[in-house]
Amino acid sequence: MNPYANRRARVLAQMQAQGGGVAIIPTAPEVMRNADADYPYRHDSYFYYLTGFTEPEATLVLVAGEKDQTILFCREKNEEREIWDGYRYGPEAAREAFGLDAAYSIASIDTELPKLMANAPALFYALGSSSRLDDQIKGWLNAVRAQVRAGVTAPSAAIDIRVILNEMRLVKDAYEIGIMQRAADITAEAHARAMRCSRAGLREYHLEAELLHEFRRNGSQFPAYGSIVAAGPNACVLHYRAGDAELRDGELVLIDAGCELDSYASDITRTFPVSGKFSGSQKALYEIVLDAQYAAIAATRPGARFTDGHDAALKVLAQGMLDTGLLDKNKVGSLDDVIANGNYRQFYMHRTGHWLGMDVHDVGDYRDPAPAGAEKPWRTLAPGMVLTIEPGIYVRPAEGVPDAFWHIGIRIEDDALVTTDGCDILTRKAPKTVAEIEAVMKG
Ligand code: GLY
Ligand code: MN
Ligand code: MN
Repeated sequence: MNPYANRRARVLAQMQAQGGGVAIIPTAPEVMRNADADYPYRHDSYFYYLTGFTEPEATLVLVAGEKDQTILFCREKNEEREIWDGYRYGPEAAREAFGLDAAYSIASIDTELPKLMANAPALFYALGSSSRLDDQIKGWLNAVRAQVRAGVTAPSAAIDIRVILNEMRLVKDAYEIGIMQRAADITAEAHARAMRCSRAGLREYHLEAELLHEFRRNGSQFPAYGSIVAAGPNACVLHYRAGDAELRDGELVLIDAGCELDSYASDITRTFPVSGKFSGSQKALYEIVLDAQYAAIAATRPGARFTDGHDAALKVLAQGMLDTGLLDKNKVGSLDDVIANGNYRQFYMHRTGHWLGMDVHDVGDYRDPAPAGAEKPWRTLAPGMVLTIEPGIYVRPAEGVPDAFWHIGIRIEDDALVTTDGCDILTRKAPKTVAEIEAVMKG
């Protein structure tokens, strides 16, 4: 069975277990950028997860009834439009190619959907995710209700399909892991390329161009998110985007960039000296962040909690802040005080990771279920989950902070697949230690 058909079957089984009904999963709309130029089209991740179909104007319908049905609504063949915009499958070929039970023109969805919804106990869709979908559903429900005197009943419950899909997407199958490994390899090579190209006098956009070149020449369709290339002090702006600042000798450059390959994201951050050699103060902070990352990686294994990596990294970072004088022991007290009081937040203000998958900040609950009223514990890691591990230190000038560290921003980010006995760093090919980075940049 192809992976998409397998996933549809798993969703249908879960819908049946909840009493059955009709699931409606549209793909993403096309969005105009300006005038008649549109943004590059990117399908909806949930829709793609269940179909593998990348055309716009499509909706998947799953019917969990007496007999399960998988139905695609998509654009019809259109010779004229295909001359301008390219090939489209059309319902017949799409049904065959994507292994669905039936496919219809998207133009017929308003007549077909009420028929499918008649007498179904529940609707499964992404509640409140799109006013367009909400309006469509209202119209379809009203069309079913109009037949009430003919003895037809309308669905009386709405269930968020994302509860089912998020859980499924959180644990990656072998097919997904294969793609994610390739995405990680491409991104690792792009970071190495940026390191090799770096020199004083270039601008941030020059390194961004090297990243994009490496992504695209390896078949990646898009960057998975806006690339951060932050020279010198810009590294302390967490959501900085590649701009036109000059790379200066003696400063660091932080790159947080990842390609999207076949709908899966990668997410790597590396920080390296513009001219290839770390200064003493840069190296001191870099080694702390690297040790923090190693500690988080060691805590990333099945049975551990999602936050164990963060907690492990935090201890190393906070101890490093005390050892280097970033935090003054006489003012903030011991390591335990720094963690309890949150003083570390002056230099480390984000968490150590997030789920990674089709979306860079991927779906999936960060908490385990708990009995009603009880606090939900953080998620227990299990094989097949993929998360980033990305500690950092960002030093803005401030009174009492040694000026040797001012404007240094460092983050080190890798993508980890939880395995049966630990984790596998998918992004291991990106140079990371001081020695590796200096060697790549020298070579
Ligand atoms: N690049 C986005 C993130 O690291 O979360
Ligand atoms: Mn990340
Ligand atoms: Mn990142």
